[in-house]
This record gives sequence, structure tokens and C-alpha cells, in this order.
Amino acid sequence: MASRIMSKLKHLRKFLRVGGWPILCRPRVIPNYFLNQREQRAKAVVMKSLPSKVEIEISGKCNLRCRHCLRAHSHYPRPQKFIALDNFETILKQLPYIVTLTLTGAGEPLLHPDFLKIVRRARQLLPHLNIVVYTNFTLIGKAVTAQELVRSGASQIHVSLDAASADVYRQVRGVDAWDHIVEGIKKLLEARSQLGAHRPLVGTNFTMMRDNFHQAPMYVQLAHRLGVDYIAYPSLLMTSWGYSNGAEGMTKSALCEVMHETRSIAKKIGAPMPVEAYVADPDGWFSHYEELRSNYFRNCMFFRNQIQIDAAGNFRLCCRHPRSPHTYGNLLEKPFSELWNGPVMITARRRQVAGEVPLPPCGEVCVVPDPPLAP
Ligand SMILES: C[S@@+](CC[C@H](N)C(=O)[O-])C[C@H]1O[C@@H](n2cnc3c(N)ncnc32)[C@H](O)[C@@H]1O
Ligand code: SF4
Ligand code: SF4
Repeated sequence: MASRIMSKLKHLRKFLRVGGWPILCRPRVIPNYFLNQREQRAKAVVMKSLPSKVEIEISGKCNLRCRHCLRAHSHYPRPQKFIALDNFETILKQLPYIVTLTLTGAGEPLLHPDFLKIVRRARQLLPHLNIVVYTNFTLIGKAVTAQELVRSGASQIHVSLDAASADVYRQVRGVDAWDHIVEGIKKLLEARSQLGAHRPLVGTNFTMMRDNFHQAPMYVQLAHRLGVDYIAYPSLLMTSWGYSNGAEGMTKSALCEVMHETRSIAKKIGAPMPVEAYVADPDGWFSHYEELRSNYFRNCMFFRNQIQIDAAGNFRLCCRHPRSPHTYGNLLEKPFSELWNGPVMITARRRQVAGEVPLPPCGEVCVVPDPPLAP
């Protein structure tokens, strides 16, 4: 209980730091947030609350083809287009109570020609929003400057830098952009301090796979030298997206050893502690993970929060299934309120409550996930 309260307070502090104060002028957002939390816990079938976390894939296009990404999958099913500014607005207006808007998906947001306009528009429409941008950052200084990014109103820039050196980056992401990205991060942090701004928070994301996991300890040192605000270490263990051998070579013992070393270096140098649970407690995390793998669909939040909308306005639940074009209606054709408690969602929630597989794709990816790691 105490740890849940501490974690909520930590999130609140971060939310306010990135400019969430205007939430106080939007009296229905906070009650919706708490109602949503209650409905999630109660596993409600008909939702009175609306989602508080939404991901919009503003760009279905990408300039890279990283080996671990679902885009490298031969059955890549998503619309490869940019969302139009008007459509973005139409969608956002249907989701007035969101707290966190993530601009990502299986594409590169900085590639969108109206990227800055989109962020500014979101900030204007919902001033309290926590706007998080996931980016490969290869276009920093080309599509947008560091100053523009600081002034845009984005709350968090989450830079995908899956390597602590240029050669490993090339191996994972297929291009020579490591130095440019590292320079870009420095420029963004400089611009933020020159402009006296509190946002965006700048973090790096190190998606772990067999090609790079040995670099995790070195990566903490790099991120610390750069002065980023946070580091994330997700791994392909839960969502391999078709790169099913992505964890091959990552035995539990090897991963634990690397994570223990990463944690001790982070402590020693005072680097922002990676947030992932298995970095904090690699041994305990594995048993939790084994349990989670077989049960994920029973506790999945996507049916009551955290929804995704792709670049064509389709309502999707998650990004786990690389082959199925599973969408559940289009927000440009039907109001979201109808879809949210429409027949598909009601059936999915009912099935989840009954312990059954909620939707067909869940059966393919969350009930029979990739094979577990070797000891
Ligand atoms: C899909 S990308 C979209 C945004 C942007 N193009 C980028 O690379 O950051 C968002 C994040 O998902 C990660 N990712 C890609 N494939 C993944 C996979 N199979 N499992 C887990 N994360 C993955 C990427 O490394 C990246 O950090
Ligand atoms: S991880 Fe990001 S940059 Fe790489 S192919 Fe996927 S969407 Fe593009
Ligand atoms: S496939 Fe289904 S159970 Fe798995 S994360 Fe997606 S919505 Fe949730």
C-alpha cells in the first residue's frame, strides 16, 4: 500500500514538473482518472469512465527498419500514412479526459511534416496533457531543431538509443546515426537549460535484445554522462513482435549478471535508476515474468485504459500482434463513446472477467507468447 502511494506521488510530482498544473482548471479530468482506476480494479464491463492514457500513431511511416521492430516483419499490417492535422484534432476532441498522450506507434513521429503543429495543437486543446514522444531521434536538427522541440510543449522526449556505441547501434538499427543522436540529446538538454524550461524531460530507451544486452552497464554510464532525466530498459521478453529470436542468447543467468552490474554502476555514479522492475530486482522479476506471461490477458489494461489509435484513425488495443490487422472501429467514422462500450469491447471485457481469451489476437500473442528464456 505504502509503495503504491509513493509511486503515485512520484508520478504526480513528475506530472506537475512537466507543466500539468492546468489540470486544476479541468474539473472532470481528475474524477474520470480515479473512476477509471476503480473500474479497472473492479474489471467493469460497461465503462462509465473514458481512457486516461492514449497512444496516437501520428506517423505510420518510418525512416528506419530496425531488426527488432514489427515493421521488419513481412506481414506488417498497419496503414503507412501520416495523420492529417484535422483528423488528429477530431480524434483528440473525443478523448477530453486523457492525462497522458503518447505520440508513437510503429512509425517515426518526427517524420510527420506537421509534427510541431500537432504537438502545439494538443497542448492548446488540452493544456494539462502529459505529451510523450517516442522517437528514433535521427531527424533532430533536420526535421526539427532542439529549440523548436523545447518550445513545442512536449512533456517528455523518449529517445530510442539501443546501444552504447556506434557499431552496435548500426547492427540493431541498420544506420550510422549514433553520433548524431548523442549530439542531438546534448543539444536538446542545452536548449532546455538555455530557454530556462522545465520540459521536456529527456530520457533514453534501450530496448534489450541479444545484440546489445551486454552493453547495458556501459549504457548507464553513457546516459549519466549525457545528463538525461531517466533511462528505460524494456526488453523483448514480453513483446518480441515477431523478432521471436530477439531474446536468443539472453539466458536468465547472463541477463541477471548484466542487470546486477548495471544496477550497481547506476548506484555508484548516481545515474537515474532505470525504471524497469527487472533492473531493480532481476532475480525476483523472472519468476514474476513467468507468471505474467501466462496470465497477461487476464490483467491486461487495454480493455479499460491505454488504448491506441493508428494513423488512419482506427481504434486498436495494443501493438502485440504483428500479423493481425485487428482494429475495433474508426474514430473518424464513429464517435469513440459508441466504440468504447460497443459490442466488441463489451464482449472482450466479459470474456476477460470469465477468465477466457478476450479477443482472438490475444489468444495468439498473450496466451502463447514466445518461448521462455533458457536458465
Ligand atoms: C516502435 S518505436 C516507435 C517510435 C520510434 N520510431 C522509435 O524507434 O522510437 C517505439 C519503441 O518500441 C521499441 N520496440 C521496437 N520493436 C520492439 C519489440 N519487438 N519489442 C519491444 N520494443 C520494441 C523501439 O525500440 C522503440 O524504443
Ligand atoms: S523501432 Fe522505431 S525507428 Fe525502428 S523501425 Fe520501428 S518504428 Fe521505425
Ligand atoms: S493481445 Fe490482448 S491481452 Fe494481449 S496486450 Fe493486446 S489486448 Fe491485451
